[in-house]
Amino acid sequence: SDRINVAIDGPAGAGKSTVARKVAEKLGYIYVDTGAMYRAVTLAANRLGIEPHESDRLKKLVESIHIRLKPVVDGQIVLLNEEDVTNAIRTREVTLRVSQVASHEAVRMKLVDMQRELASLKGIVMDGRDIGTQVLPQAELKIFLIASVQIRALRRYQELKENERIPLQQLEQEIADRDRSDEQREISPLSCAKDAIVLDSSELTIDQVVALILDLSRTKM
Ligand code: C5P
Repeated sequence: SDRINVAIDGPAGAGKSTVARKVAEKLGYIYVDTGAMYRAVTLAANRLGIEPHESDRLKKLVESIHIRLKPVVDGQIVLLNEEDVTNAIRTREVTLRVSQVASHEAVRMKLVDMQRELASLKGIVMDGRDIGTQVLPQAELKIFLIASVQIRALRRYQELKENERIPLQQLEQEIADRDRSDEQREISPLSCAKDAIVLDSSELTIDQVVALILDLSRTKM
């Protein structure tokens, strides 16, 4: 059967990356986490003291750094100028700034080019916010994965280690804020492609969502 590209979009914490990783594994495809690329740019900016509103400095920054996603058995390693930043991009400092960094056109243009290049050979499962609408409008299968803010905050809360516990309500607020900035930005806002299939994961397990997507992908091969 033919290799296809699968686009998985949706708000923060809906389970996109876990689902996308498992779908890729089952299909023998490569998983591409585009949020990790925006996070890597944000980490690089933080380290240089570049504020998320400094458009010109961010433009120069993306032109000068090298980001690479290296597929490994259970996901991917993120390399920033060949340094492994897989864990460093998951800190709160990065999470709280990434939406604003991702709103700049120069940042998006550079990363979207890389993402299209990665998908050109097919056999990719890519997750993000604008994959079905902007990056891969021709993707054979598009999923828009959603879940209630309460469920998403609870999942995040359960992922946090004891020493980094944040009140659930604050997490809900931060997730709602990030949704709002991702949905309302001018360039490539988070939105559901017309031909995407909406899956609500609120009441489903990860494995149920994965099984649904695998069934759907087989109908497209
Ligand atoms: O997926 P993740 O939550 O790691 O993404 C971090 C942030 O990167 C998102 O909140 C969004 O601002 C940005 N992003 C984006 N476009 C994508 C993927 C992520 O703007 N395709």
